Amino acid sequence: MIVVGGSASRKLSWEIARELNCRLSQPEVKSFPDGELYVRIPEDLSGEEVVVVQSTPPPQNQNLMELFLLLEAASEQDVRSLRAVVPYLAYARQDKIFKKGEALSLKLVCRFIEKAGAEEVVVVDIHERESLSHFSVPVKNVTAAPLLGRYFRGMGLRDPLFLGPDEKAVQQASRAAEELGASFESLKKERLTPELVVTSGKELRVRDRDAVIIDDIISTGGTIAEAAKILKKCGARRIFAACTHPVLSGNALQKMKDAGVERVVGTNTIENSHSLVSVAPVIVEGLRQARLS
Ligand code: R5P
Repeated sequence: MIVVGGSASRKLSWEIARELNCRLSQPEVKSFPDGELYVRIPEDLSGEEVVVVQSTPPPQNQNLMELFLLLEAASEQDVRSLRAVVPYLAYARQDKIFKKGEALSLKLVCRFIEKAGAEEVVVVDIHERESLSHFSVPVKNVTAAPLLGRYFRGMGLRDPLFLGPDEKAVQQASRAAEELGASFESLKKERLTPELVVTSGKELRVRDRDAVIIDDIISTGGTIAEAAKILKKCGARRIFAACTHPVLSGNALQKMKDAGVERVVGTNTIENSHSLVSVAPVIVEGLRQARLS
């Protein structure tokens, strides 16, 4: 087996190759003066089980194009099998047509990944599980929630509460809480505009307790900030935020800090200074299961 590491997942692909005890290819990736991308995988891939690892955070379009080109370059060789690990799948939130006339972006992204040669796909904490039906090749969705939960072990949190800021995030909250034998809750969220979210829920029993708000993705930080304000009002002692995909657009960090969040913990599905937890173990597990299926 050989892991081909795309430029958005350099460290993660190294960790995955190390856990799989296999070779790592670091392909040549460059842009021509006019902005077009060029990729080259220098290794001979004939007869190999190839795993291309490339996340697609901002700049999404550039990272997606690199993913397509890496898959295409691998599929040009006589490989035994070709799989794509896309830890953060761009456009996952445009998984439906919400208003007449919109493009169903995710469907096209899934089609391109397949057309470029992927015979199987692994993603991490996809926004909506159902949206994976846009793939016609097998796809495995693995979760980082237990790994995020484990990060908070040994931090001396006082009677922690894991809080999902909306009903969908309750699953993540419960999986993370399980790692500490802690409790979990969720709020109700309504998004009025991309920037404006209104969150409500029952009275949270967090007085003098620590809280970890956990979600699949933090983009503008609006969802976490709203949840943090509710926790503060209910008397929480310390507030942390955790997520699988730390997109952290614009002033997200400041917004969360102003709302009382002490630390933001993300994973390396997006490699930045908040990727404090590695998803390599769950991806390797996913690859092993996918290979058996
Ligand atoms: C939405 O349902 C997601 O699970 C996240 O809650 C959302 O995408 C976070 O976005 P933002 O950080 O912009 O509020």
